[in-house]
Amino acid sequence: MDSSLKRLFLLGLAFCSVLFVFWGCRETATMVGGQVEKAFQHPQVLADFHQVSGSCKDCHISKSGPIEDNLTHENNQCVECHASLAKLADVGVRGGVSPHRSHLIGAVACTSCHLGHEKSVSYCDACHSFEHQIPFAGKWERTFVPIDTDMMAQEQALAAGPRETTDVVIVGAGGAGLSAAVSAREAGANVILLEKEPIPGGNAKLAAGGMNAAETKSQAALGITDEKQIMIDDTMKGGRNLNDLALVKILAGNSSDSVDWLTSMGADLTDVGRMGGASVNRSHRPTGGAGVGAHVTQVLWDSAVKRNVDIRLNSRVVRLLKDSADNVTGVLVHGKVSGYYVIKADAVVMATGGFAKNNDRVAKYDPKLKGFKATNHPGAVGDGLDVALQAGVATRDLEYIQAHPTYSPVGGVMITEAVRGNGAILINRDGQRFVNEITTRDKAAAAILAQKGGSAYLIFDHSVRKSLKKIEGYINLHFVREGQSAAELAVAIGVPAAELEKTLASYNRFKKAGKDEQFGRPNLPRELALAPFYAIEVTPAVHHTMGGITIDSRTRAKTVNGKTIEGLYAAGEATGGVHGANRLGGNAISDIVTFGRIAGFEAAQYARQH
Ligand code: FAD
Ligand code: FUM
Repeated sequence: MDSSLKRLFLLGLAFCSVLFVFWGCRETATMVGGQVEKAFQHPQVLADFHQVSGSCKDCHISKSGPIEDNLTHENNQCVECHASLAKLADVGVRGGVSPHRSHLIGAVACTSCHLGHEKSVSYCDACHSFEHQIPFAGKWERTFVPIDTDMMAQEQALAAGPRETTDVVIVGAGGAGLSAAVSAREAGANVILLEKEPIPGGNAKLAAGGMNAAETKSQAALGITDEKQIMIDDTMKGGRNLNDLALVKILAGNSSDSVDWLTSMGADLTDVGRMGGASVNRSHRPTGGAGVGAHVTQVLWDSAVKRNVDIRLNSRVVRLLKDSADNVTGVLVHGKVSGYYVIKADAVVMATGGFAKNNDRVAKYDPKLKGFKATNHPGAVGDGLDVALQAGVATRDLEYIQAHPTYSPVGGVMITEAVRGNGAILINRDGQRFVNEITTRDKAAAAILAQKGGSAYLIFDHSVRKSLKKIEGYINLHFVREGQSAAELAVAIGVPAAELEKTLASYNRFKKAGKDEQFGRPNLPRELALAPFYAIEVTPAVHHTMGGITIDSRTRAKTVNGKTIEGLYAAGEATGGVHGANRLGGNAISDIVTFGRIAGFEAAQYARQH
């Protein structure tokens, strides 16, 4: 076939395969002729399908070198034929939902979902329950891969010795890892950032309600009076005083500086709202109440890329390496394409997040949570913790696991606490309130579980909707019920209309009087009186693992004997101590940015001295 014909054929095929992605193969197969139709009817993996158009070389041979774990060249080939993710975003929209329009950050690549030689997976299915089709795939499914899998291959890679050397390796490209990477680069270190998932950002990219910080410029601009000491007191109280006070002081003391640091890189954290357990409004998020996580992690990602951090996706760390003096000297990595290899490093930062998505592990520490759904990203399974444990770290507070009170079992997503912070109330099936809606999560979750059916309804009006951009995302996912009046909404969700009307009337009276006489809710931001009215059914889901690696105030990892493991640092949800027995909403983003920054700086300093 001459090259222009081949190109025409490829374009036709590309067009067809885009249709195929959205509407299923069988209807479109006949459009492209016998040979392709045959492939469509017997799809196994994308590689089979693509063989119709050419050979392996069409996807894999890169002028710039061999296949690497980021699959950069392969992804560029996808885009060349099928158009970029951004261009595909408006194609195949079903009921407002497009499989290619996403809130994911960084280099979201085609091969994140379309695996080529394996069944494709839909990353969205890990959180969302909306219907969409993906060729050759079923629903998202994951099995936990223990870190001691393929021991023979691991030993061979260890015997081969280091393939590369760098100053600092950071494990995990979530919020703590990205913060550490930027900070270590700012301190002059060469950095390799390793992320096991195809999509970076971890749980951090999902963060919704905000980032807590006290005494900030944004608070001052809004006339909010706050003190670092009050943030310390709120955090200790929320954590049932089991927190490490020294870490909490660092959290609150540096929180405003961390907001400034992000702002200096281009972040917008000017909207400030209330989250559970806070005495004042200190949860910072982008203008209009958009989700904080996708924004902050994108800013950090761009900053890391700009600073030439060597970021490797599809790269799982399975072991920390140590010398005879027990100092950490590097990592053993498993790259999706490159297999096992060793990176020698002066310092390593563990920023591997929590394990809320691993229900077996969760239930081991807290059997009450067995079978609960989780709000987390698919990679939050705790293999990073296994790596750290194998290297001899001490852990603390692993038994404290938090359920987020408001997860939508229909939508499959967490409904941010900011919806309550901005005015929503919780009612039970009798149409009545039953709790101070912005109490701490442990209390709100327990109260919801105690209601009939183990769930409740979040109720809000149009003024709450207008106050928080994040709500538009829930509306687009079609699980929010709506009524032109409170009575109409009550009918839609099957609660007694007169009771819901009564509940709203007394709540609005409390708002006018400035005092919640029923449950002592401390913030009453607005009346719930502007139609339409909305309801979301909610129930608790596993959300945050408070425990993890024991660190000191310089983020140095400790052994059970309290000794410092030289060269090993940890930050974020992978650690324990900052949040005690129960984390306050908004404190995790503060934690990961502040302690991520410290870890990056400390690791870079250590590397310079060794
Ligand atoms: P993560 O961001 O989870 O990153 C860890 C990364 O390490 C992941 O990408 C993971 O894949 C990778 N990794 C793990 N093991 C390995 C390995 N062995 N090798 C290589 N890579 C590995 N907190 C707030 O303060 N405010 C909010 O509004 C908020 N909203 C939230 C909403 C949702 C839906 C969720 C799930 C959480 C929310 N949180 C919020 C909590 C907060 O997002 C997390 O606690 C925080 O982002 C954790 O950051 P991290 O960097 O420690 O971990
Ligand atoms: O409800 C939320 O927006 C979640 C916040 C948090 O986990 O801190």
